Amino acid sequence: MDVSRVRQDFPLLSSEPGVNPLVYFDSACQSLRPVQVLEAMNEYYGAFPSCAGRSVHKLATEVSIRCDDARSKVARFFGAENANEIAFLKNATEGLNTVILGYDFEPGDEVVTTDYEHNSLQVPVFKVCELKGVKHISVQSSDDATFDVDAFHERMSKRVKLVAMCLTSNVHGYTLPAREVVDIAHSYGARVLFDAAQAAPSMPLDMSMLEVDYLAASAHKMLGPSGVGIFYVNEGAAADIEPIMYGGHGVTEVRGGKFTLLPPPERFETGLQNYSGILGTGAAVDYLNSVGMDDVRDHEVGLNRRMTRGLMQTPEVAIMKPFDPNMRGGIFSFNIDGMTPHDIAMILDNSKNIMIRSGMHCCHSYFDEIAVDGCARASVYIYNTDDEVDSFVEAVRDLSASFGKVR
Ligand SMILES: Cc1ncc(COP(=O)(O)O)c(C=O)c1O
Repeated sequence: MDVSRVRQDFPLLSSEPGVNPLVYFDSACQSLRPVQVLEAMNEYYGAFPSCAGRSVHKLATEVSIRCDDARSKVARFFGAENANEIAFLKNATEGLNTVILGYDFEPGDEVVTTDYEHNSLQVPVFKVCELKGVKHISVQSSDDATFDVDAFHERMSKRVKLVAMCLTSNVHGYTLPAREVVDIAHSYGARVLFDAAQAAPSMPLDMSMLEVDYLAASAHKMLGPSGVGIFYVNEGAAADIEPIMYGGHGVTEVRGGKFTLLPPPERFETGLQNYSGILGTGAAVDYLNSVGMDDVRDHEVGLNRRMTRGLMQTPEVAIMKPFDPNMRGGIFSFNIDGMTPHDIAMILDNSKNIMIRSGMHCCHSYFDEIAVDGCARASVYIYNTDDEVDSFVEAVRDLSASFGKVR
């Protein structure tokens, strides 16, 4: 991958470097956006700022055609067999809620998750337990923080109706064995929902190979705009979930106190859509395709290896498991003994212009379980360089020497 060429497309990175050039290592929160995405979004507001699928005039027709095109691009990007298996929602959280709260559970049914779920999956599971008498089972990770397939298998039974799991963790970057999980779950007749908020930006995903039933991702972590969630619903699994919102756009024949839901994806896309965001998402997947998702993955892992090599011998630094950077994509999570994660992030920002994330990363239960009080997280993407990693390594070593304690 030609990183210097890629950087020219990102306005924040393409200016002349100053003394402390900005180092953006918070892409697992939101990626930066290339000009191609900004232009696609602006074009909507400047040239055809209308509604898709409603008015019949020329501007509206243009939006409808372009949104259909964006849907087809996203479907191809994810290897979906049919573009109607892709719905555009507000974020990944809305997709996760739609499956968990919209699933037709009976009291006593079970939902199985990992023990490192993001609150966007964990909290709706807690809520559905409260609302419908569902039982939540969490599979404890192995000591090395990888997914314990045997423990998962032991927790499965015919009572499990939904396996809802984080495909790639936003805390430690580990990706579970997706196809194995799907096969085991399906052998018990359970549906599978993957939270792909971190996986989708970082690796090739192919729905027709994976055979997962539902998947949710965020456009804003994969070069797209904020305010767009990508929701995949396999055609054969759509009937098992009801929308969680009702109103205009998702229904037809509203008469005599009754209504008929439109087929997917419209039934999940209630109300006016984020058209500019949808077109920006189409441009984002075009951009990722032009780089190639295998190259995206190799680049992230290469930077992560360099970071890990640079800091694994620093005695005050504790890298979060799994230790092997090949298992962690673009995510490097760590603590410095004697410092809080927020102190690390603030000092790196104020003294070196290096931006990372700190805290519990919306995974309070996991941190409680491993008895760690949050962490600092550096996350890299296609525009980051070896030089930036070296500045980060040097800055973290300096911080450790000045403020850290050796365990
Ligand atoms: C693993 C994971 N799941 C879910 C979410 C929530 O995504 P969104 O903000 O698009 O709802 C995030 C966001 O950071 C995440 O990292």
